[in-house]
Amino acid sequence: MYANFEFYAPTRVVFGKGAEESTGKLLREQGVRKALIHYGGKSALASGLIGRIGRALEAENIPFVSLGGVVPNPHLSLVYQGVELCRSEGVDFILAVGGGSVIDSAKAIAYGAANEGDVWDFFEKKREAAACLPLGVVLTIAAAGSEMSNGCVITNEKSALKRAYDSNLSRAKFAVMNPELTMTLPAYQTASGAADILMHTMERYFNQNDNMALSDALSEALMRNVMHYARVLAGNPHDYKARAEIMWAGSLSHNGLTGCGTGGGDWSSHLLEHELGGLFDVAHGAGLAAVWGSWARYVCHAALPRFSQFAVNVLGVAPGACDAETAEAGIRAMEAFYRSIGMPTSLRELGVSPTDEQIERMAESCEQAGGGSVGCIVPLKKNDLAQIYRMAKEGPSA
Ligand code: NZQ
Ligand code: ZN
Repeated sequence: MYANFEFYAPTRVVFGKGAEESTGKLLREQGVRKALIHYGGKSALASGLIGRIGRALEAENIPFVSLGGVVPNPHLSLVYQGVELCRSEGVDFILAVGGGSVIDSAKAIAYGAANEGDVWDFFEKKREAAACLPLGVVLTIAAAGSEMSNGCVITNEKSALKRAYDSNLSRAKFAVMNPELTMTLPAYQTASGAADILMHTMERYFNQNDNMALSDALSEALMRNVMHYARVLAGNPHDYKARAEIMWAGSLSHNGLTGCGTGGGDWSSHLLEHELGGLFDVAHGAGLAAVWGSWARYVCHAALPRFSQFAVNVLGVAPGACDAETAEAGIRAMEAFYRSIGMPTSLRELGVSPTDEQIERMAESCEQAGGGSVGCIVPLKKNDLAQIYRMAKEGPSA
């Protein structure tokens, strides 16, 4: 039996060259009285994008205030600052100009401004949000998929905890996507984004359900496409077609489409990475690439036909003598792909070297974040998670 599902993707997408020119009109259509323009460290300011967006709002007579400074693995302290600003300025719409970190910071501010009490409660799963300010996105990096997802991931920098909160309330009203805006990305961020996009579909693809053929076909095509164009971008970062393909894949990979009928998926690699992100502040996609192979080797015995299908249909591996052989060849091919675009396949290559004590701490915190166990291929407990971190420390032998 296929798992029942609900698919909800209410975000209006405006895609292509010059798409950001419509931002003012999109806000006008939302009936915005005062907006907060939220952005990151420097790229959107340096490229002149923030200035252009500001002028687009002025052209529509939409008053706004601005708050920049969002860092990757966005901090809770800036969220609190944004909530105060929204309240004191009477902001009724948040415009995120940036990537996953800026969008998630905007979502958290939107929750904080629309609900009483501490917004971190939602991330600690102490209570559910009852409301959320509306928000829109001008996307500058293809990666997290937050522009169409219900997710929001914030780092509490005081406790070094990175936690997610999912709710349809935070789905963006619109997402403006001009692939040209991503051409200024450093190669490492482009590759890290591609790794994250792949993982959003892989997390859904690896499950213990009877999967719909259509969901499998969409997923496999999406993964092959992202791998192909990530390689193109590694050679030519200014290839518009490749930027466009990757950008659209980023949204479709995390808006729920590839999860229809999968029963949810595994998500272990994401939870393993969130601990690394909280403690070591690594780029999210790179962190995923660094742990995925170790996770896959640890659990694949429990889903060999699935890993074998992945190897053949996504990576073009020739079937071996048995599923176990094909599965291992697929894991190796995936790791070779990651290396080919400059992504790590171990924690050492990621540039972190957790102590035994840090591994134990991350494993415990990860188990807790998963509500007692993590993943569905094999429900992983603290000892399993610690073992995966230990395997990932040095990674596979080349
Ligand atoms: O701050 P600036 O100067 O803009 O630099 C950013 C940042 O350093 C830079 N950048 C972005 N657009 C650029 C650019 N540099 C040059 N040109 C451009 N056009 O790229 C760096 C990374 O940006 P960030 O927003 O952190 O990247 P990403 O989109 O990968 O977001 C990562 C965050 O999203 C979370 C991750 O955990 C992480 O915190 N995720 C959010 C999800 C969601 N809400 O659904 C799902 C994901 O699984 C993920 O967990
Ligand atoms: Zn991700």
